[in-house]
Amino acid sequence: MCGIVGYAGTAAANEILLKGLERLEYRGYDSAGIALVNGDGVHVYKEKGRIAILRDSMDQAQPGPVGIGHTRWATHGAPSQVNAHPHQSRSGRFTLVHNGVIENYEYVQREYLADVEMVSDTDTEIIVQLIEKFANEDGMQTEEAFRKTLSLLKGSYATALLDELNPETIYVGKNKSPLLVGLADGVNVVASDAMAMLQVTNEFVEIMDGEMVIVTRDDVQIKSVDGDTVTRDSYIAEIDSTDIEKGTYPHFMLKEIEEQPFTMRNIITKYKDENENIKLDEHIRQAVLDADRIYIIAAGTSFNAGLVGKEMIEKIAQIPVETHIASEFLYNMPILSQNPLFIFISQSGETADCRGVLVNVKELGHKTLTITNVPGSTLSREADYTLHTYAGPEIAVASTKAYTAQMAVLAILSVDTARAKGIEIDFDPMQQLGIVANAMDIFMEKKDELEQMARDYLSVTRNCFYIGRGMDYHVCMEASLKLKEISYIQAEGFAGGELKHGTIALIEEGTPVVGLATQESVHLNLRGNMKEVVARGANPLMISMEGFEEADDKIVIPRVHELFTPLVSVIPMQFIAYYAALHRGCDVDKPRNLAKSVTVE
Ligand code: F6R
Repeated sequence: MCGIVGYAGTAAANEILLKGLERLEYRGYDSAGIALVNGDGVHVYKEKGRIAILRDSMDQAQPGPVGIGHTRWATHGAPSQVNAHPHQSRSGRFTLVHNGVIENYEYVQREYLADVEMVSDTDTEIIVQLIEKFANEDGMQTEEAFRKTLSLLKGSYATALLDELNPETIYVGKNKSPLLVGLADGVNVVASDAMAMLQVTNEFVEIMDGEMVIVTRDDVQIKSVDGDTVTRDSYIAEIDSTDIEKGTYPHFMLKEIEEQPFTMRNIITKYKDENENIKLDEHIRQAVLDADRIYIIAAGTSFNAGLVGKEMIEKIAQIPVETHIASEFLYNMPILSQNPLFIFISQSGETADCRGVLVNVKELGHKTLTITNVPGSTLSREADYTLHTYAGPEIAVASTKAYTAQMAVLAILSVDTARAKGIEIDFDPMQQLGIVANAMDIFMEKKDELEQMARDYLSVTRNCFYIGRGMDYHVCMEASLKLKEISYIQAEGFAGGELKHGTIALIEEGTPVVGLATQESVHLNLRGNMKEVVARGANPLMISMEGFEEADDKIVIPRVHELFTPLVSVIPMQFIAYYAALHRGCDVDKPRNLAKSVTVE
């Protein structure tokens, strides 16, 4: 979703800000803008559409050493040039970018700005107009006017402000939305995430909710809500900048699909100690052991991983688990057990729906654990404990390697808990993950076949169904999400036995139905369900596992432990979704309407 960058240094800010915005592109956006300070004031450039368009429009921009930039994912007001950020105050003195949602913007407008004509339809514009009002009418200094304005806002914001009268300073405020300040020699920067400013520095400072930061090229002052100076250590972001480049791959999604065997092996290394035992923080182990019930909270693909995680934890560690969609749980909390543990699964660690739940359950005093790919993220910082998925930056909007990494970490956690409880486990999770990695490798060699299947089944279809049972059903939900989000084919994942209770009415002559059968107890039932749809004209694409295969199966996954099958069976599904989107001419890495990091509720 929206992303922010800021630069205060000596070099020309134009290119650095544009590069920063390009690195935020993966979050999803529909317009972009930059404000540059140069010799004769603040100049705003903003455009609807891709950053390439903004870049072109800045062709003649006079370089300056200070600036702020923004990618906007529309919430209030359509994607348009006028609604794009930065926004300026009436006189043009103040210029501001904002990420988040101001819930009380209509109230603020009515109460304080009734005499100010708004230019845009955004919730953001009131912030910059109010700052100017306090500065002009109440004679406040910029810092004071900014603090007073922020204190009146309800909702989430990460925001950066320029004042034409103090052109060397960027004023920054944060509440709930992610924001970091980066430090370098004679240069300081602001960014929604570290990746955006890696070209300048890898040293960052976290900003906490309610804080304000005054950033110049030589100084960074963090201030509390009350205006007191805060000191905080910086940290080094351990991201290799080559990880965030596509290299020779045409798309990040393809690169990330192919990175999955490596990710599995990486996870094995990170979670194994020198005695080949599972390496896990003792406090995390104890928190899981203390739990009488685990509540997994997640969204989208991470929710789908959570469904598999439930099966793993219940079957291996024998602790009851409920997996909930974060946005539902937030406003409909079920009756909780006596000693719950909340596990948040989030690739980005920034998903606002999850964060809402985290804040609520922390207030209730419950223990929290985040499983994330971004250890410095909000959900990671705010939970009691974090488990890292070690997948490396995931840039494509469609999540692939994060999903399999989340399930791998959940498997390790399950086995660790089982062992700590004295439950006999007849397999070694690390060895199983090694087998999984090898099985994944096989599909990397079968891309041509999978591409052909995508052509045969999905080139022209309007819809597609995925059916499975047990673990396979959860993979079908993920496979259908993958297909619909990038190819825009209406795709649904169903429990094989449930289809005949209504959905089978949608099966027509030629409707593609992907059947997945890897689970011993139900694979024959699933084949029965496939026969039911074939009898009604469906075009079947059957995926099974070695040992359960039949002659007409299109894909047979190598034999892996039954509880680890989702990590392998999803790979051909990801490839098929990728190629289907490609052949339908879709923008694979940046599907329409979607954002990578969903930082608003
Ligand atoms: C789908 C996808 C989304 C995310 C969801 C949660 O491919 O990427 O469904 O899984 O928005 O995001 P995280 O995991 O960052 O909390």
